[in-house]
Amino acid sequence: MKKSGFTLKDVQDVYGGPEGKLWELVMGEQIHIGGWKSSMELAQKAGIKKGMRVLDLCSALGAGLRFLSTNFGARGYGLDGTMRMVSESRKRIKAEGFAKQIEIRFGDVTKNPWPDKTFDVIWGEDAWCYVEDKNKLVSEASRVLKKNGVIAFTDWTEGDAGLTSSQAERINNFMKFPHMESRKGYEKILKENGFIIKYSEDLGKDFARHIRLYIDMLSEQLAFDALKIIGGDLALFQAMGGEMAFMLKMAEAGKFSRARIIANKA
Ligand SMILES: C[S@@+](CC[C@H](N)C(=O)[O-])C[C@H]1O[C@@H](n2cnc3c(N)ncnc32)[C@H](O)[C@@H]1O
Repeated sequence: MKKSGFTLKDVQDVYGGPEGKLWELVMGEQIHIGGWKSSMELAQKAGIKKGMRVLDLCSALGAGLRFLSTNFGARGYGLDGTMRMVSESRKRIKAEGFAKQIEIRFGDVTKNPWPDKTFDVIWGEDAWCYVEDKNKLVSEASRVLKKNGVIAFTDWTEGDAGLTSSQAERINNFMKFPHMESRKGYEKILKENGFIIKYSEDLGKDFARHIRLYIDMLSEQLAFDALKIIGGDLALFQAMGGEMAFMLKMAEAGKFSRARIIANKA
């Protein structure tokens, strides 16, 4: 799918400002579809065990790592490219008593700062759609993974039914995605970087259900809170509702989706 021209700078503007706060309002601290339940399914399928070193690429508010530490006894490391998310995650990690188990660094996931063969698991939840160079992200992930390590992630993807260029452009413009990968595209990148695919699932129906849920929450319950975040701009609020309705239509048609992929480093 064609690249949109958005870069990490645009993504930093999203997560450093009101849009990022809006996503937290509708999704909670875990800024991904399905929250706790989705993380539990991903962790169980990935086989996360006590003491494993897990690197969350695009760790946002650190909620994924707090989840993995609490429920699986994992040792957590996070990397995120937006300073507001890094400082906010560090604050919440410290306040909740996770400072000894979780470390967060600021940086671009395509320039992974850790040495070779450091981690048992690479983790990602609904975030790599914001990364321009997915091949670099995966090759760097492979480098820092130990032999037989696992990469486990969910992401917003182009659905199997495929988007036209103008449909993809409209979603990328609203979401500020540099480019959207497809599930098959991810499989190809992973294989080219020496991974063996264990699970590759299209979660499209669940994805559409959640987009509908967010539209309902914003229009039926959280309008006051959302408007407060965007400075009371009703026209913007309505325009955003229109873009979310478009995403729902694309999701229901199987053109826009979400994938869960788990693979092993050979
Ligand atoms: C949707 S949020 C991630 C949600 C998180 N995985 C969770 O489940 O709570 C997207 C995050 O990706 C980060 N991000 C996007 N592109 C990045 C990049 N190239 N390098 C590092 N972080 C990036 C943003 O700063 C933002 O915090």
